[in-house]
Amino acid sequence: MKHFIDINNLKKKEIDEIILLAKKIKKNPKKYSTSCRNKTLGLIFEKQSLRTRLSFNVGMQKLGGSVLELQSKDIGFDNKREKAEDVLNVLSQYIDCVMIRNNNHKQIVNLSKENILPIINGLTEYSHPCQILGDFLTLQENFKNYKNISIAWIGDYNNVLRSLLHLQNIYNFKLNVVVPIQIFNNNENEFSKFKNENLKYFSDPVKGSKKSNCIMTDVWVSMGEKNTKIKHFKNFTVNKKIMNNALKNAIFMHCLPAKRGQEVTSEILDSKNSIVLKQAQNRMYIQQAILIYVLKK
Ligand code: CP
Ligand code: NVA
Repeated sequence: MKHFIDINNLKKKEIDEIILLAKKIKKNPKKYSTSCRNKTLGLIFEKQSLRTRLSFNVGMQKLGGSVLELQSKDIGFDNKREKAEDVLNVLSQYIDCVMIRNNNHKQIVNLSKENILPIINGLTEYSHPCQILGDFLTLQENFKNYKNISIAWIGDYNNVLRSLLHLQNIYNFKLNVVVPIQIFNNNENEFSKFKNENLKYFSDPVKGSKKSNCIMTDVWVSMGEKNTKIKHFKNFTVNKKIMNNALKNAIFMHCLPAKRGQEVTSEILDSKNSIVLKQAQNRMYIQQAILIYVLKK
């Protein structure tokens, strides 16, 4: 049974296949309009979602499958009414795979080990692999060859950055991780596991954005976190100065939702070099490819 929990669980060949499939679906959606016929996807959201909810829902329907949104509280997916494993065992009698967004990465890792039903990680506090694969598709459309990508991540160390690090460790494109010094110090042990020649760490956004052709960021406070760390992000707002410091024509990326005026100015978010809506659009093609990947026997 296949699951989609983290990018570093996948082989490069598998990621290449998923990306290629997403490109093919995008080019010729009709050809795939029955790829998931008679299959049902369950969606469990324990946190808010716009893009992930919509891209899985519409994406699955366009593949000829159906979708059920399962309200976590209503089905008792909280280990209080019955064990989450028992819920999945019952779900497996009706549906074919389940996407889970929660605040408990360990739970979905453990559930996936039970091999009851294919599980897709729709974001946890630890990682957001669907987002980063979608972004990799968007980057490949933009740069043609991933070897030409040089990203400066300017912001927090969070789920999205962790998935980006997983991807960088496989593809070895240039990545400057620019995080406040306090956040770097708090996570030094984890950062040290990702070392390679194309991965550099900075705490100064001006230095860290130099020579990059993509500036990427995300909210400073992720869902479920306390906002006490905002004080560390002085000078971290992606603005004209930072964009001008990057390479000419550098693109701006953000998984969204954005807090305008905090991690990015409206001027940059709405600029012609911002490809945030393309990222949102590509989420659907990558979800479709992931669904076909996990449902393939
Ligand atoms: N980028 C993303 O995952 O958006 P949602 O939280 O709205 O799904
Ligand atoms: N890091 C953000 C991503 C939202 C898509 C969060 O977890 O809230």
